Amino acid sequence: MPAVIDFRLATLNDLDSMALLEAAAGYSRWTSDAIRTALERHSVWLCIERNHSDEMLCGFAIFSRVLDEAELLNIVIDPGYQGRSLGSRLLAWSFSNLSDDGICHCFLEVGQDNGPAIALYEKLGFKLEGRRKGYYKKSDSRIDALIYCKNLDKPN
Ligand SMILES: CC(C)(COP(=O)(O)OP(=O)(O)OC[C@H]1O[C@@H](n2cnc3c(N)ncnc32)[C@H](O)[C@@H]1OP(=O)(O)O)[C@@H](O)C(=O)NCCC(=O)NCCS
Repeated sequence: MPAVIDFRLATLNDLDSMALLEAAAGYSRWTSDAIRTALERHSVWLCIERNHSDEMLCGFAIFSRVLDEAELLNIVIDPGYQGRSLGSRLLAWSFSNLSDDGICHCFLEVGQDNGPAIALYEKLGFKLEGRRKGYYKKSDSRIDALIYCKNLDKPN
């Protein structure tokens, strides 16, 4: 049977492989402790490649939730799998789960220098809602944080 891409909820058993992926490819470099806290408190979904009984982590997405709103706190796709629509598919799968749970809106914040992520979010229908000037420190300068929102309501 050929390898297949699949999606599932993360558990604490996924902490080590998530921390390795974040260290290798994350934009904001979350610590292992921060990922553990996310696994304990937030909704974390994985994109995996299954081959028979083996599975390999390709990416993850972390969402916090309050009432009917979610915030995408982090998304990472393994560099070896980037550009193959896995980020888009992981987010679409996550949005479907969030929507089924009654979440209506998803917010996110992204550095203005993160072109690939901004292109991904705009392609998925996120709209620019605001800007925090100089929010992120990058070496010796500061860059703006862009705030995006997407309506997750399912069409009738
Ligand atoms: C951002 C990220 C998650 C995208 O994942 P991905 O699986 O490569 O994205 P997809 O293949 O689904 O791409 C979807 C769209 O995003 C845009 N995109 C993705 N990578 C891009 C790149 N390197 N340059 C420009 N646009 C890009 C394109 O519009 C693409 O659509 P297209 O294939 O029709 O051109 C991935 O680059 C990543 O993990 N980056 C490091 C971590 C990060 O920055 N996370 C965001 C924190 S806010």
